[in-house]
Amino acid sequence: MSGFTENLTDLQPVRETGDGTRVYVETYGCQMNTYDSQAIGGILGRSGFAMVTGIDEAEVVLLNTCSVREHAEHKIVSRVGEIRAQRRDRGLSQPAIGICGCMAERLGEELRRSNPRVDLVVGVDNYDALPGLLADLGLGGRTATPAVVGHRPDAHYVAPPDLYPTNNSHLVTIHKGCDYNCTYCIVPATRGPQCEKDPAAILDEIRGIVDAGGREVTLLGQNVTAYHWQGELDFAALLERVAAVDELRRIRFLTGHPRDMHPHLMDTIGRLEKVCPWLHIPLQSGSDRILRRMKRLHRRDEYYTMIDHARQVIPDVTFSADFIVGFPGETEADFQDTLEVIRRVKYDQVFSFKYSERPGVPAEKLADDVPLVEKKRRLAELMAVQDEVWRETAAACVGETWRAVVEGPARRPTGALRLRTANNRKVLLKEADLETGAAVEVRITGCSNTTFLGETNPA
Ligand code: SAH
Ligand code: SF4
Ligand code: F3S
Repeated sequence: MSGFTENLTDLQPVRETGDGTRVYVETYGCQMNTYDSQAIGGILGRSGFAMVTGIDEAEVVLLNTCSVREHAEHKIVSRVGEIRAQRRDRGLSQPAIGICGCMAERLGEELRRSNPRVDLVVGVDNYDALPGLLADLGLGGRTATPAVVGHRPDAHYVAPPDLYPTNNSHLVTIHKGCDYNCTYCIVPATRGPQCEKDPAAILDEIRGIVDAGGREVTLLGQNVTAYHWQGELDFAALLERVAAVDELRRIRFLTGHPRDMHPHLMDTIGRLEKVCPWLHIPLQSGSDRILRRMKRLHRRDEYYTMIDHARQVIPDVTFSADFIVGFPGETEADFQDTLEVIRRVKYDQVFSFKYSERPGVPAEKLADDVPLVEKKRRLAELMAVQDEVWRETAAACVGETWRAVVEGPARRPTGALRLRTANNRKVLLKEADLETGAAVEVRITGCSNTTFLGETNPA
């Protein structure tokens, strides 16, 4: 299976450079990184490396990193020290440690200069260089390799289809990068401009997944709803084509941008049975003043119109979103506007973050003037409001009957199964004997946090 689309894989012969060297990949950040880690597994596997699931047995540890908030980057620096110390304490040999992902792309050579315990640095568009780099590294001798970074617009990864996916749904990255310039965000810098994967390549990839037994896909990108191929094919048209793949059962997608949620797209989502009625559409703030300062390119009333339209045309639709609290200049009144949206929209899930100033982004010029204690307070209040809203939503679901697909065994209790509905609600079935992938009717009896409790319907 190829690691890159275009001709890159054909041009590069498969080299048995790995010689069974054991590699462990640890993934941070968003689903784009999860997908890339799968692609790394494919690229290295094809070149004779052995991908392992336990860090202690690895000769090479790759950390696939995220730069979105300062905390995410700090975590990686301490993780490198932690891995080295754990090996030492356990009397094991030291692995080569490589940094991949957004942090590698952002910092490049600087990362190795400032952290001599890092052996290699490879940015988001250069994982096809990993086999050669790891071979050059000379695991015994430790030769320094230069950082490999830089965007390559036409090179796209293709993850092997045979990896067992999270949530039963195979990730398929349909484009990379981002052309929006939200003032707080580092992603356009780390991932580069938006570049689309060819729809023919996307469909081939999905057919490969179906041939390998997969039945669900999640189309991935920073703004999938902005997908456009040579002015001919937009995201709605891509969904139509993907939905036409025989035997594929469910299609999810992440992330949507409010700006691109046109009525036509929502109508298409509502009409296509295979497309799941779950929209993850980050709003970031409920205040128009803050949205302007964030350059989110839409207002709160437009977001409400979008939500109302979705509710009309997409049966059983559920929503989730991201919010940032404590953006520069956010007043208590702005924050209350955010809470009002959360109360009104009634999201199933809300992901909320304290604003973190990133180097070089436009918002760096604004004073980061909301004190940390206040950011923490707002975050806690937002989560408490979401909790309250969710408890009401969840309580109203008790007694309903839903169709859900078995994802596999639950962590607890023993014998229980995890299921998921099309609109992304998790259901736990105790002591059921069903195969993974089976679709069943479940009667909802309760809810604990975000997981519903259910029983199979005798009817
Ligand atoms: N492309 C998606 C997601 C981008 S990153 C979108 O446009 O929504 C994921 C989330 O991280 C964002 O939605 C935002 O809520 C958060 N985020 C991004 N930059 C941040 C920053 N500087 N500080 C705090 N949170 C941030
Ligand atoms: Fe970042 Fe905005 Fe692009 Fe999302 S749309 S990745 S928040 S710049
Ligand atoms: Fe983080 Fe990069 Fe994703 S910055 S959120 S891993 S695109």
